[in-house]
Amino acid sequence: MGDMNFKAVLSKTQPQVEVMTSEPDRATGYRSFRLGGFEFQRDEYFARISWPAKGTRMSHVMPVDAFLRAIMRDVAWGFFYGWVNFDHVVGTKNLYGRVELFGGRYFAPMKSAGLDHTETFESPLIMATFKAILADWVNAGFDPFAAPEETGKTVYGPKNGDNLAAIDRYRVPTKRMPGLPGDSPLRSDANGFKVNRQFTDVPQDEPEVKPEPGFEKELHAFNLFKYLSRSDVTWNPSVTAVCNASLACPTTEEYILPIVHGNDRVEWFVQMSDEITWEVQDKETGALRARITMKAGDVAAMPADIRHQGFSPKRSMLFVWENANPELPKLYESGKLKPYPVEF
Ligand code: PHB
Ligand code: FE
Repeated sequence: MGDMNFKAVLSKTQPQVEVMTSEPDRATGYRSFRLGGFEFQRDEYFARISWPAKGTRMSHVMPVDAFLRAIMRDVAWGFFYGWVNFDHVVGTKNLYGRVELFGGRYFAPMKSAGLDHTETFESPLIMATFKAILADWVNAGFDPFAAPEETGKTVYGPKNGDNLAAIDRYRVPTKRMPGLPGDSPLRSDANGFKVNRQFTDVPQDEPEVKPEPGFEKELHAFNLFKYLSRSDVTWNPSVTAVCNASLACPTTEEYILPIVHGNDRVEWFVQMSDEITWEVQDKETGALRARITMKAGDVAAMPADIRHQGFSPKRSMLFVWENANPELPKLYESGKLKPYPVEF
């Protein structure tokens, strides 16, 4: 690494943006990518990320399936709120318009030795580079959104085709609520959303809605359990109700949240079915602060000064409630708001 030949190639997804990429490796068939001082390389089992530090290059290695699941979330969520840690070493911080990419910045041994590296990029450049990595590194048959049991082992091995349909899943953004006229659709067999193998016991009836004449476009309700039972992805919140900055983002979970999320605001969790164990760490150092197991009906607020990762032993339903107010990060950073939402 560091001596590879890269050339600028026009992005297939971002107009006017050039991505730095190598020729395919002769042995594995995968291309390498460069973004500023960072380089990304994959082999049959691992992703390697390297960066300049103290006149040499540091490198970090991750299982390639974990790396692809993480970078897929970063892309799908537009870098999300705050920090998206791919693991304890590498990740991004959203500056809303620009994005920081870091290696070792929040991993004390590297940080204290001065071996960490952070660079800031315009969002379209890092987005185009991450999408190009996914397009090249995701093999046919591997779906980074699926639970491991549903997608098999096609992620490993030398390059074998691609799965652009899985990584380009386009979600119709919800304006108010799915199923309202002109809004995102509800899920059904007819539009390809079948009940997931672990949710066959979920009732599929819809509520009866009887609006007064003239209010047909205003009054609406749908069966959220049915909607979620038909989610074809894991760990991918989708907006199902919008009220100003209040976003209801329920999701279905199985296996491990592929990123460690560092919050820049408070977010609320309601466990709707089954259970998830959360590991909560200090945002800066990663020191363990709490481990909490949420069972159906449990409610928790994740504070604004932590990072957290969830473990869901079987497919479960989680209601994530986000406050999208853009003023929040600086209110928490300046201490104007306490990092937790209630005092007991
Ligand atoms: C979170 O970081 O709060 C989060 C992200 C994705 C999920 C659930 C929770 O699926
Ligand atoms: Fe979070």
